[in-house]
Amino acid sequence: MDERILTQNSLAEDNFDNRIRPQTLDEYIGQSENKENLSIFIKAAKMRGEPLDHVLLYGPPGLGKTTLAGIIANELGVNIKTSSGPAIEKSGDLAAVLSSLEEGDVLFIDEIHRIPRFVEEILYSAMEDYTLDIIVGNDSSSRSIKIDLPPFTLVGATTRAGDLTSPLRDRFGITCKLNFYNQNELKMIANRTSRVLDCPITDDAALELALRSRGTPRITNRLFKRVRDYALVMGDGKIDINIAKIALDKLKVDRLGLDDTDYHLLKSIIDRFNGGPVGIEAIASSIGEEQSTIEDVYEPYLLQIGLLKRTSRGRMVTEKAYEHLNIPYNKKS
Ligand code: ADE
Repeated sequence: MDERILTQNSLAEDNFDNRIRPQTLDEYIGQSENKENLSIFIKAAKMRGEPLDHVLLYGPPGLGKTTLAGIIANELGVNIKTSSGPAIEKSGDLAAVLSSLEEGDVLFIDEIHRIPRFVEEILYSAMEDYTLDIIVGNDSSSRSIKIDLPPFTLVGATTRAGDLTSPLRDRFGITCKLNFYNQNELKMIANRTSRVLDCPITDDAALELALRSRGTPRITNRLFKRVRDYALVMGDGKIDINIAKIALDKLKVDRLGLDDTDYHLLKSIIDRFNGGPVGIEAIASSIGEEQSTIEDVYEPYLLQIGLLKRTSRGRMVTEKAYEHLNIPYNKKS
């Protein structure tokens, strides 16, 4: 099969990520409600000898959707095949992915909201009664053929549940919304990464990493790698609070986890739009980022920690943001 459609994990970076990725629900830190629910549903499916119902995972990037998909397959004791919305351009792409499935497999489709609508329709019968309905031939002599698929579990991931069409959304029996992680959970993740990589970290340094990770394990692990480099070159390989602070300041990650782009975004709303309200399109063109990147990557955390708010007239920077940026706040009428 075309490698473009089914993704393989073979890059060096993936090996690193795979090592620090938990393999079981027990090893997975945080998202406790989702974990408890999934654990019951997985056990029940196994007791019945049936495939798990299709699962939709949604939430901001970096919170562990791919990791959870792998854990679901592992806990079910089945193989996982991975693809993504942008890789599936034509009906044939999706048909090829579906016909590669074996009994019980988990099919993980990342960014599932990006499958084109006319292709997505093929998923409906595949999810509902494990059949592949495809049209063969050309306009004058086309006919529809039905192919039976083995029972499987689709795990779909999206940063935007709202972008899913309702026929697709309705076909997922299990929906998990992933939330930002708290400090304690991120600290536990930093400590776990330290054990897996055999790179010691002090308690206060692990907390410092947690504080600056904007609620996101992927960022904790990314910062861990860079801080580890500083510890190796500038110290004795151990991560302590001094090394952590020096490294994180050099990486320009502040004590709320904000980076240059967050600053640029908040400051441009303040400088150019008097703090808002302002539409997302205007913000996007003012800072030269894609609207969807702002909506999916930057904005959710800024909203969560109360530096930005959404009103019916657009986005507004809050008083808390002015304080954080050290800019005098003139109360709006
Ligand atoms: N690494 C990345 N995400 C994780 C999580 N939720 N639990 C444990 N380790 C992780």
